[in-house]
Amino acid sequence: MSITLKYAPIVEANSISKDYGQVKALSNLDLKLLPGEIYGLLGPNGAGKSTLIKIIAGLLAPSSGSLHVMGLDPSTDPTGVKSKIGYVPESSTLYDSLTPRDFFEFISSIRKTDPKLASERIKTLIPAFGIDQYYDSPIATLSMGTKQKISIIAALLHEPPLLLLDEPLNGLDARSSRIVKDIISLHAKKNHGAVLFSTHIMEVAENVCDRIGIIYEGRIVAEGSLDDLRRKALSVGGGSSKADRAGGSVDTLEEVFLKLTHEQEEIQETIRTLRAAFFGEEKSD
Ligand SMILES: Nc1ncnc2c1ncn2[C@@H]1O[C@H](COP(=O)(O)OP(=O)(O)O)[C@@H](O)[C@H]1O
Ligand SMILES: [Mg+2]
Repeated sequence: MSITLKYAPIVEANSISKDYGQVKALSNLDLKLLPGEIYGLLGPNGAGKSTLIKIIAGLLAPSSGSLHVMGLDPSTDPTGVKSKIGYVPESSTLYDSLTPRDFFEFISSIRKTDPKLASERIKTLIPAFGIDQYYDSPIATLSMGTKQKISIIAALLHEPPLLLLDEPLNGLDARSSRIVKDIISLHAKKNHGAVLFSTHIMEVAENVCDRIGIIYEGRIVAEGSLDDLRRKALSVGGGSSKADRAGGSVDTLEEVFLKLTHEQEEIQETIRTLRAAFFGEEKSD
């Protein structure tokens, strides 16, 4: 007999680490996602976003730590976990020779989705993304953006409670980005689902998330609402602008981010190196 708690976390990761040989991609990372939440994982390239998402999706095993998705452990119940998740990878791997119509049929059958339900979802989502005209074209002939849309639709067909989206807005035009953002919000509101998505675009995290986790070198260095993060950035101190030194505001997420990850100094150093390379400044011997 199992007890179902209404507000049990959808994702609960404790002290997850992942090593790829010598590379430490994740270090003792904790993450909790509650029903109804939209969580944005924000970090630069190589921070560990995709690794974390693949571990939660049950595609990669962590080197250490524990993980539960709606109470299930992906290492012992990979099929159970997959049925709870809709995953959109960073670069979609679709079957080039199939058409979207065949592909959706295939995905629905392997996930044992009710065909009527799947067809209703397709009927709503295809026109929402404006891709009606490609429904019967081989996937190989479609643009990156259209493939991304198909991958998102495929992830939604079985109405998974947890959506995992790895850089979902890459390659999408403004209209489709807007629609994906709406889908994310609607999904989280419906049936206490949750969404975890990664991005390196501040503006996306700023607009869409309930909570943001700033991930840097395999650790979540700060987490909370945008206001929480602003306060945290102010308390870190040592900012370079006059406003920071006077205890003033850290206005945009970009400023917060740069401050919390100490990338500000690194960027300035890079700019100095570039200047030197272009204009011969600071050249020695
Ligand atoms: N299959 C792999 N083999 C070796 N190193 C990897 C592999 N995948 C990712 N990495 C390394 O792990 C770190 C985190 O990568 P990743 O999770 O892809 O970051 P992000 O998605 O934030 O860009 C990076 O240093 C990356 O080079
Ligand atoms: Mg990535």
